[in-house]
Amino acid sequence: MNLVTIFGGSGFLGRYVVRQLAYKGYFIRVVVRNPNAALFLRVYGKVGQIELISGDVKEEKNLLAYIKGSDCVINCAATFFETPSQSFKNLHVNAARNLAKAAKEEQVSQFIHISSLGASPKSDSQLLKSKGAGEQAVLDCFPKANIIRPSLIFGSEDTFFNRFAKLSSISPFIPVVGSCTKFQPVYVDDVAKAICSLVEDYQHERYLDLGGDEVYTFKELIDILLDEIKRKRIILNIPFFLAKLIASTNDFFRLISGGIVPAFLTLAQVKSLENDNLVDSKSENFSDLGIAPKELKIILPKIVGRFNRS
Ligand SMILES: NC(=O)c1ccc[n+]([C@@H]2O[C@H](COP(=O)([O-])OP(=O)(O)OC[C@H]3O[C@@H](n4cnc5c(N)ncnc54)[C@H](OP(=O)(O)O)[C@@H]3O)[C@@H](O)[C@H]2O)c1
Repeated sequence: MNLVTIFGGSGFLGRYVVRQLAYKGYFIRVVVRNPNAALFLRVYGKVGQIELISGDVKEEKNLLAYIKGSDCVINCAATFFETPSQSFKNLHVNAARNLAKAAKEEQVSQFIHISSLGASPKSDSQLLKSKGAGEQAVLDCFPKANIIRPSLIFGSEDTFFNRFAKLSSISPFIPVVGSCTKFQPVYVDDVAKAICSLVEDYQHERYLDLGGDEVYTFKELIDILLDEIKRKRIILNIPFFLAKLIASTNDFFRLISGGIVPAFLTLAQVKSLENDNLVDSKSENFSDLGIAPKELKIILPKIVGRFNRS
């Protein structure tokens, strides 16, 4: 096993995967839309160990060239917001399918696809629906693929704790949608470790749900955050019907502005918050890989320490 090609390697999770693989001595090819913005990945490896290639996973005709000679392909490419040039379906279903097909054709021996807890073709959320359909599309083309389904991921570059910590520094209120929805937050480096261990000891057709050992509601997560950064804020529970109205309005203005209006709340996000985000006890998980996930409370000070008032 020599060459691992990763799509989405510059993202929040992808960079930790690149770092872990580099540490283990793999050669890594990272396919990114903007290689200049991904140059920081180079320092994770020795000279020549990490190659950056300019490319888009949606470019079906180039996929064979991108993955040529790879022993393993990892797909971390995803989006949380649709844009005029990138729909959930295009990226999470069609591109994932094309990549799995190309990997099969190139006789790549390992394919690891990153999905999401709660992903299901039957989900009401367009995001989770596309992720669920993407899993199926990958397995149809590459039946021996491994599928990873993390819960909410935390780490220094996460959008969850950083976003709410920032908000708490400018607002006395923290609006929360789905305050009772439960999560099993998982540390980004543990997910990367899990992916790396699958590469090292690949077994066919694995389906892993990755969550931390503790279960928290959305409100409890905000309470823990506020406690950590020593700020007292009023947590406002936004009922789902109101959140859907706000999100639909935001989606509409983003659509007619061609993506200029920022996505602060989308309908897909709101709908994904209607259900708990917990690991299925029947699926494989961290314990099957011999990994003990780190606790949120141990890592959180490193993530939001700079927001701490004391
Ligand atoms: N973060 C979480 O809490 C969480 C929870 C559950 C599951 N997940 C899953 O974990 C995976 C990684 O998520 P993340 O948090 O790391 O997301 P992220 O930070 O948004 O990273 C996504 C990556 O995909 C790349 N990408 C997007 N469109 C692409 C395209 N057309 N061609 C090539 N690359 C493209 C992005 O590169 P650009 O710079 O070019 O945009 C970026 O490197 C995703 O499958 C996500 O669904 C994440």
